[in-house]
Amino acid sequence: MDDLFFDYDSIANLYDSFMRFVPYRDWALKIYRIYKSFNLKGNMLLDLGCGTGNISRYLSEYGFEIVLLDKSFKMLLESLKKNFKNKRYIVCSDITQNCLKTNFDIAISIYDTVNHLNDFQLKQFFLNTHSLLKKNGILVFDFNTEYGLEILTKHLQIRKGDEYISYWGTEYDKEKKICTLKLEIKFNGKRVKNYIFNERALFQKDIENKLKEIGFKLIEFYDFHTFESFDNSSERGIVVCQK
Ligand SMILES: C[S@@+](CC[C@H](N)C(=O)[O-])C[C@H]1O[C@@H](n2cnc3c(N)ncnc32)[C@H](O)[C@@H]1O
Repeated sequence: MDDLFFDYDSIANLYDSFMRFVPYRDWALKIYRIYKSFNLKGNMLLDLGCGTGNISRYLSEYGFEIVLLDKSFKMLLESLKKNFKNKRYIVCSDITQNCLKTNFDIAISIYDTVNHLNDFQLKQFFLNTHSLLKKNGILVFDFNTEYGLEILTKHLQIRKGDEYISYWGTEYDKEKKICTLKLEIKFNGKRVKNYIFNERALFQKDIENKLKEIGFKLIEFYDFHTFESFDNSSERGIVVCQK
């Protein structure tokens, strides 16, 4: 399968404005509770596809030392504008490739990042993350389901900022399992910019098989929003698994 198309560098300066409604603080608390439930002792956290560090800045309040990793240099630069309560390091790299010498107690990948990976890359991502975790370390990531991506196509979203209005329209190709987001941004000066972002629908069975094959254990799926059992009506799943 070809690489999916997205370019976060091109929207990095607007990303936080687009996402200002996202409850990152609540998500960070959820992740912290998961981490606590595993009785892990260390505090090293790896945020894979961290973007502008929106979730990690809150996780740092729980005492984690954080490595923020993303392939978009401009997203990482935005993360540097944020206050972290503990040590943080940024790494510009691909989440499917191992470029670190440190091992982590917890690795996270949040808000659709894994939906940007093709089938081969997803497996590489799991392999890479497995090798970066300490023994008993955990991986926590979310993913958009096919149902969730289909629902997105039903609404045109409009998000406004001080200097722009943006329109978010999506189409879902059921055969290819690819969702295409067409993003149009109209700036107050009337300048218009258009972007395309692809995501791939991901499926529980496939994720589970890949994780098992790589050696992860205690693989659990939850509905991201309710944190109850994951089922056909889950728009987004969250996966917790252990090395
Ligand atoms: C939807 S954003 C999510 C950002 C952040 N986790 C959040 O919660 O706001 C997806 C991020 O994943 C990054 N990304 C996607 N594929 C990647 C890859 N193969 N390697 C590194 N970063 C990747 C993108 O550059 C982007 O910053």
